[in-house]
Amino acid sequence: MCAQLIDGVAIGQTIKEEIAKEVATLVEETGCQPGLAVILVGDDQASATYVRNKEKQATKVGMKSEVIRMPAETTEEELLEQVEALNEDETIHGILVQLPLPKHIDENKVILTIRPEKDVDGFHPVNVGKMMIGQETFLSCTPYGIMQLLERMDIPVAGKHAVVIGRSNIVGKPMGQLLLQNDATVTYCHSRTKDLASYTRQADILVAAVGIAKMIKAEDVKEGAVVIDVGMNRDENGKLCGDVDFDSVEPVAGAITPVPGGVGPMTITMLLQNTLESAIRASR
Ligand code: GUN
Repeated sequence: MCAQLIDGVAIGQTIKEEIAKEVATLVEETGCQPGLAVILVGDDQASATYVRNKEKQATKVGMKSEVIRMPAETTEEELLEQVEALNEDETIHGILVQLPLPKHIDENKVILTIRPEKDVDGFHPVNVGKMMIGQETFLSCTPYGIMQLLERMDIPVAGKHAVVIGRSNIVGKPMGQLLLQNDATVTYCHSRTKDLASYTRQADILVAAVGIAKMIKAEDVKEGAVVIDVGMNRDENGKLCGDVDFDSVEPVAGAITPVPGGVGPMTITMLLQNTLESAIRASR
C-alpha cells in the first residue's frame, strides 16, 4: 500500500492565490494594502534566507513588504524602539521579529512589545491565550498550516487520536491545542516521554516536531496513520530530511507529508494569511 502524499507546495500555492485575490480586492475597495514588516537582528545565515523568502512571497501576493536588518550588537532597547515604531506605523499590519535573537536580547520582552493586533506570528501571550479558549486570533503559523493541510486533504480530525511529539511554544503546544479544538483526543509526547513508541503506535494522526533526523520508523507508526513531519534536519549525507524516516514509513502510513515540500511551505503561507486578516480587521 502507498500513502497519499500531502503536497504542501501545491496546497500552499492554492492558498497564496486566494490571498493574492483577497489582497487585490481589499486594495480596490478600501485602498488598504496589507503591510508586513520583518525585523532581522544579526547575520545568522538560515534566518537571513527565511527572511528573504518571507519578503519575496509577501511581495508576490501584492503586499507591502519591509525588512529591517539590524546588526548583531543592536541593544534590546534599540530593538524595542524599532518594534514600537512599527506598532505606530499605520501602513504595517504584521510585525515579525525573526527568532532566534542574539543572546543579550530577551525574546519574551520583544514578543510582549509587539502589539497583539499586529502579532502575525501568534506568539504574544494575549494571542496564545485567545487560541487556548478558541477566540478569533492569529494562530501560530506552522500548526495553523498543518490544520490547513488536514482540512484541504479532507482528513477528518474529530474523534481521532492525535499524538504530538514536541512541546515547543511555536509548534508542539499550539498544535495539540488546535487538534483538541477540532475534537481530536490529544496526547503530547516529548524528550522525557518513556516508551515513546507505545504512544506513537496508537496515533491516528502523528505530528513529529522533535528535530531528530529520521527518528520515526515504520515500526513506530500504525497502519494507515496520517503522518505529519515538521522536522527540518540534515541526514548523514547532508541532505534535507524530516523527523520521519520517509522511505520506511511511507508504505505503512495512510497519508504523509514529505520533507521538503510538506509542512515547510505552509508556514510562510499562513504568515501571509494572518497579515491579510490583520489588514482586513484594521480597515473595518
Ligand atoms: N524562527 C523560526 N521560525 C520562526 C517563526 O515562525 N517566526 C519567527 N518570528 N521566527 C522564527
